[in-house]
Amino acid sequence: MTGFAAVDVIRAKRDGGVLSDAQIDWVVSAYTRGDVADEQMAALAMAILLRGMTGPEIARWTAAMIASGERLDLSAVPRPTVDKHSTGGVGDKITLPLTPLVAACGAAVPQLSGRGLGHTGGTLDKLEAIPGWRATLSNREFLTQLAEVGAVVCAAGAELAPADRKLYALRDVTGTVEAIPLIASSIMSKKIAEGTGALVLDVKVGSGAFMKSADDARELARTMVELGGAHGVRTVALLTDMSTPLGLAVGNAVEVAESVEVLAGGGPADVVELTLALAREMLGAVGLGDVDPAEALKDGRAMDSWRAMVRAQGGDPEASLPAAAETEVVRAESDGYVTGVDAYGVGLAAWRLGAGRARKEDPVSAAAGVVLHRRPGDPVRAGDVLYELRADDAARIPAAAADAAGAVTVAATPPAATPLVLERIG
Ligand code: URA
Repeated sequence: MTGFAAVDVIRAKRDGGVLSDAQIDWVVSAYTRGDVADEQMAALAMAILLRGMTGPEIARWTAAMIASGERLDLSAVPRPTVDKHSTGGVGDKITLPLTPLVAACGAAVPQLSGRGLGHTGGTLDKLEAIPGWRATLSNREFLTQLAEVGAVVCAAGAELAPADRKLYALRDVTGTVEAIPLIASSIMSKKIAEGTGALVLDVKVGSGAFMKSADDARELARTMVELGGAHGVRTVALLTDMSTPLGLAVGNAVEVAESVEVLAGGGPADVVELTLALAREMLGAVGLGDVDPAEALKDGRAMDSWRAMVRAQGGDPEASLPAAAETEVVRAESDGYVTGVDAYGVGLAAWRLGAGRARKEDPVSAAAGVVLHRRPGDPVRAGDVLYELRADDAARIPAAAADAAGAVTVAATPPAATPLVLERIG
């Protein structure tokens, strides 16, 4: 591959230029090898954040990130493959009921997931609350489980898009996470390398999401849908509201418990609505659009699939989940309606209680979290429980209580209802 001087590539983007295919291939590969230094890549990432990238540049950048590692071959899996990716939100446990549900309806779901960082939780952290469950599988175990159970949620291996692994860690500490070309290429390089045949994106909008405005979320969604199509992965995106947490539970074990309620045919209405909306998109994307996922939730097939998925990774689906040593119950001070439950504030409270991590090496508490007793629009009487704060260590509660108190508001009149699914792009 032709060599370039990294500083010339940085200058070209800094000055608003369009990078050539050769420049992109070289800089991504040289960075992965360690021939371009972190400070040079950080400068380039900042130039990309400020100057943007054209569609062809993003497509080439994504291809170069895919080429930095292995691309899984799922052609031996005897069912159509379809995955879901969420851009991350508070209380977003949808992968847990959705993966076994879609498997119960006839597709195979190869879900390579991550851990949480900051105020949003990670799917692997949640599943690790289940005694015995293991996130790390070999490629052979992953493929066997996908073929036999149809549902796998596990950690992405180190060989999958290693350029992204390195670049994402760098972006995290250099204020360059929020660049749409970099977010889109980061997410799509991993999903395309994973080998899925189709992909449904849940692009979150609101205080608890990366994208605070619908315009930014739409641009990100369109960019990713185009990238998927260009790489032969049928891709659809739903823009969904993340100004309020999903469901009532925010944490690890508490989100597993809520997911199991959904799989048992109950659970909060918004979690059920989004699970079914995404399941319908996933099934439609692989030609199974006439299968009704609501039936599979009702008749126990989704629950059977969940148990098989958990057992296949060493977990005991019947075991009790860890319980918190300390619980603080917060009650309403006046009669009225819950007018708002701010996703960012509740996510921050759960994080302070120990459900999330500040650095990627930190452990998380399985039992910590926030359990809401009321949602926006619900009536309350003075003295009714609004929410519970749960932690292993009482010292974590005061700071979390301050965040949660600012996040949950009660007033005399109910708020206007807001839709959960805002838009479909694809
Ligand atoms: N998630 C990713 O995988 N990458 C990003 O850049 C942002 C969110």
